[in-house]
Amino acid sequence: MMSLLGKLRRLAETREEVLGKDDAPFGVPVEEVYSATEARIGGRRVLMAGTNNYLGLTFDRRCVEAAREALERAGTGTTGSRMANGSYTDHLALERELAEFYGVSHAIVFSAGYLANLGMISALLGPGDVALLDADCHASIYDGCRLSGADILPFRHNDPANLDRRLGRLGERAARTLVIVEGIYSMLGDRAPLAGIAEVTRRHGCLLMVDEAHSLGVLGEHGRGLAEETDTEQDVDFVVGTFSKSLGGVGGFCTSRRPELEMVRYASRPYIFTASPPPAVVAATRAALRVLRTTPALRTRLRDNAARLYKGLHELGYRLGPDVSPVVAVVLDTPDVALRLWRGLVEAGIYVNLMLPPATPDGTSLVRCSVSAAHTTAQIDRICAAFAALREHSSTG
Ligand SMILES: Cc1ncc(COP(=O)(O)O)c(C=O)c1O
Repeated sequence: MMSLLGKLRRLAETREEVLGKDDAPFGVPVEEVYSATEARIGGRRVLMAGTNNYLGLTFDRRCVEAAREALERAGTGTTGSRMANGSYTDHLALERELAEFYGVSHAIVFSAGYLANLGMISALLGPGDVALLDADCHASIYDGCRLSGADILPFRHNDPANLDRRLGRLGERAARTLVIVEGIYSMLGDRAPLAGIAEVTRRHGCLLMVDEAHSLGVLGEHGRGLAEETDTEQDVDFVVGTFSKSLGGVGGFCTSRRPELEMVRYASRPYIFTASPPPAVVAATRAALRVLRTTPALRTRLRDNAARLYKGLHELGYRLGPDVSPVVAVVLDTPDVALRLWRGLVEAGIYVNLMLPPATPDGTSLVRCSVSAAHTTAQIDRICAAFAALREHSSTG
């Protein structure tokens, strides 16, 4: 049996086998941030094409000023849980604004998107209940299911018929089942077939949760996400999301028309046993939500950029995810090829994300770009040009 530290030493060996000894591609230090799209990494000015800064709001003056005002007024942190001294009127205002944005009665703010999934799923489900989740769901969804003690049954990715069969087999237990999917999947940028999933879920009498982490501010006429875009908002019981992507902050939330949501505050360990988000973060997030609501042009710009990058890389012959979205994932044959491409891009001054198994679906190796509304057309073209220069080195053939 391997010792505790032995497991970590084993991990170090595996890491070296796959990645080599020097400049590991994970946890790369960002030395200076110049703007929503540029930073210094490894002493080099790089174009950031791998952030989740979808609306480019991290340096928006309104958000920065709101954060500065709150920092001066309310201090650096709350130093307490939402259930103790950490529920400021700022948190309550953000909850009201989120509920209003989604046109529902209730919203809860968590300290991270990760904790929103942990907190919601573990409060809704317990031993004997069932979590039926899309197999490609994010780690935070799996972890929330584990924390709940419920039975975890993944269904085939984006396959409502498979979901239907699994629910059919559950019989009466379907009434104690939570179905969980995402709006846009973070690895390949593809969307859930939400109308089909909602129909199956409704027919079997289950509750439906949708994680709109990557689709808030991106999809839908008002930016509410995939449920808005597919006209299924009435069928979704719980929307979960994060402040760390299109809103440029950190924190998470759940909105619902179900009044029972309020009791999650009393039942959710990841809500109760951690400090609440700092006032400056809450203020910046409220400002960002206002910008998101009042500036639909940002969404149009983001979609144009995503379509341009997707088309550019597709024309170069790269294998991509199935849908055009701000997550543009290039699928490579092996981890080695992906690593080579990633290094080539960084040397060309383009920062993207390298994604390797086991973090990826079906053991694929990905070089994942993320597009921002803040990217200029010239920057998108620069990303394409860098991929073009590296094209012939990007296959195993
Ligand atoms: C689908 C999904 N849900 C939740 C999260 C967690 O969000 P956060 O980074 O705010 O903790 C992520 C982040 O990567 C995500 O992709």
